[in-house]
Amino acid sequence: MKLDTLCVHGASFSEETGAVSVPIYQSVTFKHPSLGQSTGFDYSRMQNPTRLALEKTIATLECGAEGFAYSSGMAAISNILELFNPGDHIIASTDLYGGIIRYFRTISEKNGLSFSYINTADLDALNLAITKKTKALFIETPTNPMMDITDIEAVSRIAKKHNLILIVDNTFLSPYFQQPLKIGADIVVHSASKYLAGHNDTLAGLAVLKDVGLAEKLRFIYKTIGGCLAPLDSWLVLRGIKTLALRMLRQEENAMKIALFLSSHKRVKKLYYAGLPTHPGFEIMQKQTTGFGGMISFEVDTATAAANVLSRIKIIAFAESLGGVESLMTYPSVQTHGDIPESERNARGINDRLLRLSVGVEDIEDLIADLDRALL
Ligand SMILES: Cc1ncc(COP(=O)(O)O)c(C=O)c1O
Repeated sequence: MKLDTLCVHGASFSEETGAVSVPIYQSVTFKHPSLGQSTGFDYSRMQNPTRLALEKTIATLECGAEGFAYSSGMAAISNILELFNPGDHIIASTDLYGGIIRYFRTISEKNGLSFSYINTADLDALNLAITKKTKALFIETPTNPMMDITDIEAVSRIAKKHNLILIVDNTFLSPYFQQPLKIGADIVVHSASKYLAGHNDTLAGLAVLKDVGLAEKLRFIYKTIGGCLAPLDSWLVLRGIKTLALRMLRQEENAMKIALFLSSHKRVKKLYYAGLPTHPGFEIMQKQTTGFGGMISFEVDTATAAANVLSRIKIIAFAESLGGVESLMTYPSVQTHGDIPESERNARGINDRLLRLSVGVEDIEDLIADLDRALL
């Protein structure tokens, strides 16, 4: 079955009433048929039928063995980090969503994990960063917000050689454009609050694992810690996924036109969109993805110009988050990456002139007119 069809129909689901939409099983607990027997559902922190339909759907879309649905992307990441033990070392992409770096630095380090941050596009640097204690690689591609691209297959060869678990945050492209497990990753994680749910109305996280043994370990952590996704929110993510293909294609089409508009605008000094041949990761993108996505970052000439854009946009909302049908503009240095020290932010290009645009599905002429007015 093709991806577009899988998005609409999800994993196979049978319901005795014939309901086409997966019912919302708003139940905390489930009756046992008799002592020692279970319907397969006992208590909703462990299993819930609506959530299971979502977990099977995301496992199918990501070509993995098992899916896990969480109350947020960060809940998914925190559960995954519990697979590791004090003393373990993890190598991560330098440019990651700021909340993940905050988690690593304030929670994981306190729990005895250590981290090295490198440009994971640089395979020599990656080889050099591996120590006897290294257990995993954590990458985003494209990264948030600088759109750095990592060659997943090349990195996975290094990971296999050193017996490391390769974790890929696939939030920016979704399985519609990129399926990391098919090209060597072991775990895929999503902020499903973004493209998968797709409507800026649901907070959710998803993880998919390729290896059944590792999935069993994560299932134990899942039921023990909690952080599971509620039945209604599971249904909202499932409903969002039904239109994932349509939205991804439209958002990408709009993003490409906006990137071309911005590339020739006098106020725009730097443009980061992995769909343009001038982007350093363009060739790798062509090899490992089927699309470039709807995320663009760009630098304007002054901090005042950036502030003006944020106050002048009318259709595009000045708001955190990304991936939904509504276009959103974010100011990474203050919002998503506000907790990263300023010198580190500036070294990564996350300065007070950088804006990040999540392109929605609105009419392209309206979006360009909005940007044109705001960039005056
Ligand atoms: C790439 C990426 N991963 C993970 C997260 C965390 O997800 P959530 O906000 O759903 O907890 C975000 C949030 O913005 C993100 O952009």
